[in-house]
Amino acid sequence: MVPAEGVDETALRVRVPAKLNLFLAVRGRRDDGYHELVTVFQTVSLYDHLRVALLGLPGRRHHPAARRRMRVELSADPAVPQGRDNLALRAALRLGELSGIVPLEGPADRDGVRTVIDLEKRIPMAAGMAGGSADAAGALVGLNRLWDCGLAVDQLRAVAAELGSDVPFCVTGGTALGTGRGVEITPVLSRGPFHWLICPDSEPLSTSEVYRAWDRHALPSDVGPDRVLYALRSTDAAGLGAALHNELEAAAFGLRPRLRVRKRALLDAGAVAVVLAGSGPTLLALTADEAAAHALAAAVADWCPQALVARSPAGGPELSHDAGLSDTGPLLRTLE
Ligand code: C5P
Repeated sequence: MVPAEGVDETALRVRVPAKLNLFLAVRGRRDDGYHELVTVFQTVSLYDHLRVALLGLPGRRHHPAARRRMRVELSADPAVPQGRDNLALRAALRLGELSGIVPLEGPADRDGVRTVIDLEKRIPMAAGMAGGSADAAGALVGLNRLWDCGLAVDQLRAVAAELGSDVPFCVTGGTALGTGRGVEITPVLSRGPFHWLICPDSEPLSTSEVYRAWDRHALPSDVGPDRVLYALRSTDAAGLGAALHNELEAAAFGLRPRLRVRKRALLDAGAVAVVLAGSGPTLLALTADEAAAHALAAAVADWCPQALVARSPAGGPELSHDAGLSDTGPLLRTLE
């Protein structure tokens, strides 16, 4: 996007990874309708890219009064949810509200200050990989810096929890135990790297529908994450494979029976283990190494041509100066 004549911009780029749930146990339904979880999150090397830019006339862009009322816009491919349906824009508006910024609607005013969020999506959507949550986390991390909000990580996580259950983890990424609704985050040690073939499904699956199916058919479990936490301290794919666990799998497979068939096909084609990604419908096939992930991709290409090879863990959101404006290199690696 080229700013209009006379208008300057300050811009940052944020790269945010998708997440995996290596372990997900459902302890039961809560009074607020959510489910009490024990989960192990890990980021994986599939990324969305955000560019956040503050535009305005020189002198006005950084003027506190001019910045108090500004337009906040999202620019994204039409396939991506638009406006307030997009979690990244909702995150921006909420952070703005908490920072005393009044979002303006209507046509852009040449003298006004604007923030534009450009979103480039690569994480599969509605796939159980927290793509929308990652975008929201990216917007929070990027705008916290661009707008000089000065929120600390735990404050960003509190805002994140208002936006969705996976957003607090996405603010810092890495590997973490999630409890409560999934929003209470404790970092855990992981070595790795672990190698995956990620097999998205062509049709999305609604998270709330999967939880409702769990309500109908499943009982609260008391399985603990110790085996996964132990396996993560090694680089042993077989150990991790034996420990992968997702209690939403039966509910999702009931709603989408072909996923059970595809899991079997991935195992028959050489995956070490296969687990549903979050509430699905993506399947995660763990492989012994990167070459095995590529070989598995070739073996399943006829029914999963969109499969992606990836590695975990993948750190957290990475913030850098916009390349066009600065050659000073990375501004901040991650928030961890
Ligand atoms: O928090 P988020 O908006 O991502 O959750 C989407 C839906 O998933 C919720 O409306 C709820 O139906 C279900 N959910 C749940 N328990 C959780 C997380 C999500 O029931 N811990």
